[in-house]
Amino acid sequence: MVRAFRVVWASLIWLFMIMIPIQFYLAGHGAMEGAHAADKGIRPMKTGWDPHASFGTIMLLVSLLVLLAALPARPTRRLLGMSVALFVFMVIQFVLPFFNDSAGTRWVAAFHGVNALIVTGLAMGLIIRTRPYWPFTKSEAAEAEAGAAMT
Ligand code: HEM
Repeated sequence: MVRAFRVVWASLIWLFMIMIPIQFYLAGHGAMEGAHAADKGIRPMKTGWDPHASFGTIMLLVSLLVLLAALPARPTRRLLGMSVALFVFMVIQFVLPFFNDSAGTRWVAAFHGVNALIVTGLAMGLIIRTRPYWPFTKSEAAEAEAGAAMT
């Protein structure tokens, strides 16, 4: 059963990773739309950032599923900690844009872009470190590490 949860957990991390470049693309799309509107002196589209905000909210849910799946997958403490951190930094990522409602707090909201790099780094670290948790991983060292976490 633990093995099954490990596959679910590792798959969810991959799903989250694949969503990252899509999310960056959607941010680029919103920014380009705003830049175009500023260039032409027209009003920016009100919905320009909606796809990014909606997709980001789905990513927040996926990061929660990563955390929930990590518990029964019984990884090492370090990997469990990284799964918790992924969710915590995604909550921060979700909250930061709320500081954009006034010029005085915009500098806080702007950390959204920097925090996106932290989220990306965490996801990449998890992808690399969950390799031993796939059933098809044959290396002895990998099996030893994954096995040690089960005991
Ligand atoms: C891992 C990458 C990212 C994730 C997971 C993410 C996630 C999110 C989420 C969940 C929201 C909605 C927040 C809310 O409704 O309160 C949001 C909004 C926003 N994001 Fe990102 N984001 C990422 C990268 C970026 C980048 C690189 C930029 C551009 C520098 C960016 C710019 C924005 C802006 C401007 C908003 C506000 C949109 C609005 O007011 O409707 N995001 N993001």
